[in-house]
Amino acid sequence: MELPRVLWLAFVPVFVTVVSIMMAQLRTTFSRTTKQSPPPPPVTVGAPLLGILPALLTKGLLQVIRDAHAEMGSVFTVRLLHLKVTFLVGPDVLSHFYKGLDSEISQDEVSQFTTPTFGPGVAFDVDFATRREQFRFFGDAMKPAKLRTYACLMVREVEEYFARWGQCGTVDLKQELEHLVTLIASRCLFGEDVRAKMLVEVATHLRELNDGMRLVTILFPHLPIPAHRRRDRARARLGEIFSDIVRSRKASYPDGGPDVVDDMLQCLIDSRYKDGRATTETEVVGMLVSALFAGQHTSSSTGTWTGARLLARANNKKLCAAVQEQERIVARHGDRVDYEVLQEMDTLHRCIKEVLRLHPPAMMLLRHARRSFTVRTREGNEYEVTEGRTVASPLVIHNRLPHVFRDPEKYEPDRFGPGRGEDVAGGAFSYTAFGGGRHACIGEAFAYMQIKVIWSHLLRNFEMEMVSPFPETDWNVVMPGPKGKVMVRYNRKRMS
Ligand code: HEM
Repeated sequence: MELPRVLWLAFVPVFVTVVSIMMAQLRTTFSRTTKQSPPPPPVTVGAPLLGILPALLTKGLLQVIRDAHAEMGSVFTVRLLHLKVTFLVGPDVLSHFYKGLDSEISQDEVSQFTTPTFGPGVAFDVDFATRREQFRFFGDAMKPAKLRTYACLMVREVEEYFARWGQCGTVDLKQELEHLVTLIASRCLFGEDVRAKMLVEVATHLRELNDGMRLVTILFPHLPIPAHRRRDRARARLGEIFSDIVRSRKASYPDGGPDVVDDMLQCLIDSRYKDGRATTETEVVGMLVSALFAGQHTSSSTGTWTGARLLARANNKKLCAAVQEQERIVARHGDRVDYEVLQEMDTLHRCIKEVLRLHPPAMMLLRHARRSFTVRTREGNEYEVTEGRTVASPLVIHNRLPHVFRDPEKYEPDRFGPGRGEDVAGGAFSYTAFGGGRHACIGEAFAYMQIKVIWSHLLRNFEMEMVSPFPETDWNVVMPGPKGKVMVRYNRKRMS
């Protein structure tokens, strides 16, 4: 039977659509097979077999990376012996680094060197899912309700600490803040009772942990060097001290902590994995060590750099602006400093933020490319970073890019202020002192809070002068801080 002519006509548009879809698919397949992948990033020349090793020994890592960046631009590969590391510099090329799924770009392969420091059962000694849950426990201990409690503890600790300073004197600010930050962290983490007993010993061991995380540690975490041996002894001793603390807390409150125990230790003991499992003693100890390590050196060195920058003669105006802000706040709230009052200290906040731009405690962030990916530079060049490659974002260079930060070498807290907002104007991932995206720092608010509590107290109560030269940076460790002593002369202000 013949179909009526109108029915045939009705098939025409369907036929045309099907054919055009097939053509489009063919075109895509064809272009996929013919389109060339972008080229790999340029590679530093270096010596045959050795790569940059000779330059590394003569110039140091930082200068080698600076030179390569100046010569090759924002995406380049550095070869060291058998290892190749691709560096990504600047917000334009960092989107995948920070936002990519862990199945595509991960921390695991490049962070194994931290395991002797953090210990078993936590961080990179466990699988990704367990680690995420452990970070969730940290996150719970850093919620605003908890931060409010910590703010009060911090204020009390800081007041007690500086009450011990005389009417006038000269101190090593670096050493003072190392002690103070350990006291603050211990009080917020473990509560007052255990804090006083263990301060000196814990502070010493934390310093040894940091000193034991050298640049060579990244490649050879178990190399038998004195710094690694001291690190291992320190970690073992911290394990013993914290295990005792966990056991005695569990013995004191076998049915879970009462509401009055509001420290991080109790939070971690009470935490439950999604399957209902409780945290083990080893895990709680590891998380306490990790929290102290993550927060202690980073915060104390940021506190010291804040002093060095504000007390440098060239920055007298910035110091005056920070003091005036404190006077305004005292006029409004009297001597009360709490979580809410701290939020009002914008000038001080920017002074610290600018310190972190110029002196980021994490000099370089690392990832491992589990899949190849493409980056496009602001000049429009595309490169393919191949699967298996170690990828690095050197914050020390990233934070001083002249197209993001005007006069990048200058200490200029107002660059983050109203009307400038250079960190925002530069686009996402312009300012990355606390990382960003999937692995952004969990302790940022806590860190700002304790540095603000310290400097708010110092600016209100003391006139200060730096009597040693502006400190150099100790680049030997993974988390660089000020090198040597930072001597400061103080005079207690008269009570008005
Ligand atoms: C001035 C102080 C601090 C600085 C500059 C800092 C910096 C950073 C940076 C850059 C990252 C990202 C690492 C990456 O992407 O590979 C990070 C992650 C992290 N930080 Fe901090 N940190 C500070 C204080 C703290 C404190 C006080 C804690 C809390 C206990 C903390 C806990 C963490 C944790 C758990 C992560 C891992 C987050 C994740 O991978 O999901 N940090 N921090």
